[in-house]
Amino acid sequence: MGESIARVAMDVDMPGVREVASHFELLDDWTGMPDFLDAERAFGTLVVGEVDGRIVGYGGVLRRGRVSHLGDLYVLPEHQSSGVGRAILDRLLPSDTPRVTFASDDPRALGLYVRQGMRPVCPLLYLTSPPQEASRPPGAEGREPPGVREAGMLDARISGGDRTGALSWYAGLPGVTLHVTGGGYAFARVIDEDLEVGPAGGATPQDCVDAVLAAVAAHPGIDEAQVAVPGVHPALPRLLEAGWEIDDMDTFMTTDPGLVRLDRYCPHSDLG
Ligand SMILES: CC(C)(COP(=O)(O)OP(=O)(O)OC[C@H]1O[C@@H](n2cnc3c(N)ncnc32)[C@H](O)[C@@H]1OP(=O)(O)O)[C@@H](O)C(=O)NCCC(=O)NCCS
Repeated sequence: MGESIARVAMDVDMPGVREVASHFELLDDWTGMPDFLDAERAFGTLVVGEVDGRIVGYGGVLRRGRVSHLGDLYVLPEHQSSGVGRAILDRLLPSDTPRVTFASDDPRALGLYVRQGMRPVCPLLYLTSPPQEASRPPGAEGREPPGVREAGMLDARISGGDRTGALSWYAGLPGVTLHVTGGGYAFARVIDEDLEVGPAGGATPQDCVDAVLAAVAAHPGIDEAQVAVPGVHPALPRLLEAGWEIDDMDTFMTTDPGLVRLDRYCPHSDLG
């Protein structure tokens, strides 16, 4: 196998990057619109791993203030365990500012991230709601942007850094709405018959879950809703009690525990 090179992605690399992402079924929910790879290039950094001129892996970071959210690290199976992932990560992640990620259960990923200064904090549970009632409760209206600015300010306090640019970008995508309740906010996106909720947060854990539930209630036509809930979020037992189910899980990791307010935050699975 030839020498591997890690470098920042250029336009011409994007078909190769999307091939890798598609192999891991990462783009299934993003067809026909700008996707999180575009967001990583616009609001962070996307690095490719190349072997003999072919893109065999990539990694992506989204920046919010000083925080780097590692959103992706993927290497094609036939090139795994040969140093490509590590080379991408070394090129991608700053060593002197806070880093967070949602690690898969691949021990190589967990091991690499720990050696990059991050520690496992708690599971991040991807929940799906019970089937939704088809009627809209009173008062469950979504508010469109200009709420993005105020949601962005609250989000910055909860998620550890400002990313109003990325949130405005997301709010402008087809099917995306923003739901602002008393002390909380929740972005939501309709994907076919489903609803992906997040990022969502609030001044208190209750405000966070109120905003999530308001986003769901404002979409009476959907089959089910999905939301990522940190294992330490106080609302978790209540959601499970109400019939939400655990579909999948990652591990929330960070260099700086306390930076992200995990008790009042439900991140977006791709955007953090
Ligand atoms: C995770 C992944 C990106 C790593 O990339 P990679 O190119 O395979 O990894 P590398 O060869 O660069 O590095 C793997 C490191 O893990 C170490 N490692 C292997 N098994 C390990 C284990 N059980 N425990 C701890 N460390 C381990 C290796 O020693 C190596 O470190 P070294 O380079 O210092 O020797 C890649 O394997 C992958 O795409 N996996 C499937 C998708 C996935 O789960 N991605 C993570 C999303 S968060």
